[in-house]
Amino acid sequence: MGLDRNIMPKFNHLQFAIDAVKQTRTPFYFYDIDLLHETLETINRLTANQRWKVHYAIKANGNPRIVKEIANYGLGADLVSGGEIEAAIKAGFAPENINYSGVGKTDWEIRSGLEHNIGFFNVESVPELEVINQIAGEMGKSARIAIRVNPDIDAHTHRYITTGTADNKFGINLEILDQVIKHALDLPHILLGGLHFHLGSQITDMSPYSMLCDTVNRLIDKYEKQDIQFKVINVGGGLGIDYSHPDEHPLPDLEAYFNTFKQGIRLREYQELHFELGRAIVGNCGTLISSVVYVKESRNKRFAILDAGMNDLIRPALYGAHHQVQNITSQEQETEKYEVVGPVCESSDVFAHDQLMPLTRRGDIIAIRTAGAYGESMASTYNMRPLLPSVFYSSQQSS
Ligand code: LLP
Repeated sequence: MGLDRNIMPKFNHLQFAIDAVKQTRTPFYFYDIDLLHETLETINRLTANQRWKVHYAIKANGNPRIVKEIANYGLGADLVSGGEIEAAIKAGFAPENINYSGVGKTDWEIRSGLEHNIGFFNVESVPELEVINQIAGEMGKSARIAIRVNPDIDAHTHRYITTGTADNKFGINLEILDQVIKHALDLPHILLGGLHFHLGSQITDMSPYSMLCDTVNRLIDKYEKQDIQFKVINVGGGLGIDYSHPDEHPLPDLEAYFNTFKQGIRLREYQELHFELGRAIVGNCGTLISSVVYVKESRNKRFAILDAGMNDLIRPALYGAHHQVQNITSQEQETEKYEVVGPVCESSDVFAHDQLMPLTRRGDIIAIRTAGAYGESMASTYNMRPLLPSVFYSSQQSS
């Protein structure tokens, strides 16, 4: 079996996925560690010599090898649960470079963050602020916090992944920000150190970020006049990737993203700028590799039924998300349209409708591309299907 010329990916790493099928039963997640390194190197180059710190949003992919690779590049971690605190510490992220967001931090999770002396709690509500103050007091500690501001900016992304508009559950509305800041300053076990923002995810148009810069500048000016200085401004993550052209655009437009903030934010000498990128770091380095179990004809459709299902990659079923689906072993010149579906007992278990592929047969290998972010991390065992193994490709060594 070899790659079809027409669909030969620019990054030949999928050839290694085909080889890996000989040792590892499909389906599995296949990660291109070279591409991950290239992305991280680009991030480090573009952010060097600035008072900037990029944090990796672990929720995008918590695979221990991936998380460790990222920690090794010196990034910080952005996380949203006690489980992610443990994963970040285990992977070697410096605790002071760990930021913890989330609207529902429980007592044990707050305690764990305090025990590990993490950098910042990104606080999302007044009750949370008070509980953190109380728990920190009981532990004889002070909690460094940033207030997560809901900037009421619509990032025009999918409604499930928009977070920065006033009706989302996230952050503190601008109208009550003054009040909350004053309250935080009065609490004895709270050290207010920053403002945090996050607009949403899969954002490819930079204009919402420019609007965010304006809001940030306005708030910095306003609070400086009241002698309130925020050491850290955290602008969140959300940079989108090209799901339609993973080979043409293996890297996200990191340059446009960072330039928007370089030009947009009037960062003071005493301030640091934090970013929290997830998808942009890991999205394109992951591929879900599966096999065709059966090809089935119905009255109007031809189904390619895979051994991977919506429990392994839920994005198409949950968000109607598009992932490139490629038959990477068929040698056929003739093409056909297929409904590419999984085996799970749900009609939404569809990876692609009317997908044009070379003639496809039982045993062909199908690559579902750009699955590195929110693929493995959102997988479930629905239908008692086991979680998938992962295979890593690196030109240094493969494992
Ligand atoms: N910071 C905060 C506070 C966040 O809530 C998120 C993502 C990030 C950073 C990282 O965003 P990214 O750079 O990865 O876009 N499951 C959805 C995405 C949910 C994103 C949730 N928050 C998907 O598969 O598209």
